Amino acid sequence: MAITKVQVNTEYGKCVLEESRVVLTLPGAGENAKPICRFVHISDSHMVVSRPEDSPEIIEKVAHTRKFWNQFTDIRAELPDGSERRLDLMEVNYAVAERIRELSPDGVFITGDAVDNPSVSNYITLGEYMDSLGTKCFISLGNHDCPEEDSDDSTRAAYDSVMGKRDDVMIDTVCGIDIVSVFDGYGTVTAKETEILRKQLERGRPTVVLLHAPVKTLSVEEPARRSWGDDLSHWIVGSDGQSQECLDFVRLINENKDNILAVFSGHVHLASGGGEAEDQGESFSEDEVLQYTAHPAFMGFLRVIDIVG
Ligand SMILES: [Fe+2]
Repeated sequence: MAITKVQVNTEYGKCVLEESRVVLTLPGAGENAKPICRFVHISDSHMVVSRPEDSPEIIEKVAHTRKFWNQFTDIRAELPDGSERRLDLMEVNYAVAERIRELSPDGVFITGDAVDNPSVSNYITLGEYMDSLGTKCFISLGNHDCPEEDSDDSTRAAYDSVMGKRDDVMIDTVCGIDIVSVFDGYGTVTAKETEILRKQLERGRPTVVLLHAPVKTLSVEEPARRSWGDDLSHWIVGSDGQSQECLDFVRLINENKDNILAVFSGHVHLASGGGEAEDQGESFSEDEVLQYTAHPAFMGFLRVIDIVG
């Protein structure tokens, strides 16, 4: 999982993003495997915006939240006069969009926390953002994405209009690759979701699985522990202390690792995958599915996935 720096020209000026490159090979492909399709993976954009018609309380809350997330991002735009300006998280998200348009992928994997909290303004912005990418987006919902119990009707309507009718497991096909988006936004899955995934995997088709919270693999476990401590039960599906359903789900994924090209996930706000970051305690087992997690998009991170076969 090589991570390189890429320069992007944006309306704010030139800025540099971090780009992870992954090549996945279809089972049975020979040495002469040719490119089949390209996807981009982004996660945890945490889009948070207000509109002039929002209440003063919401406008203030949005400003406060942006200030919080902006602590973690340090992407600078170089202006035409040679000076620099530090970008706000939404400006970074739009710079990532610019890079995605340059890459012209066959689809974009959005692994959750696309918005920071449920609001009409955030959902409208997310819808416009996805439209601007010029390709289909596949979303695994995160714990920040869904309307909450006290969300009003207009917020729910905005969510519905952007997300459409969603099931807990969504299956789409692009270029012969099945994309399975599972709702594990709170770090857990249900027996029903496991059953749907089992049926899908029995078809023996090349499959990519999208989750918000990663499944427990060596590649993510130690890096996540460093960021979030020893109790990973809210961070990783299949962690110690989780339900049998979650353990069954992870076992199912690992048992079918030959059909699953890779799992892509977010939530932990760190980039891991392939066991290549040994200096960060990252490891890899041949018995486990290949999984990649992502730094937040608002920190200027994206992943390019080229599938060959
Ligand atoms: Fe997040």
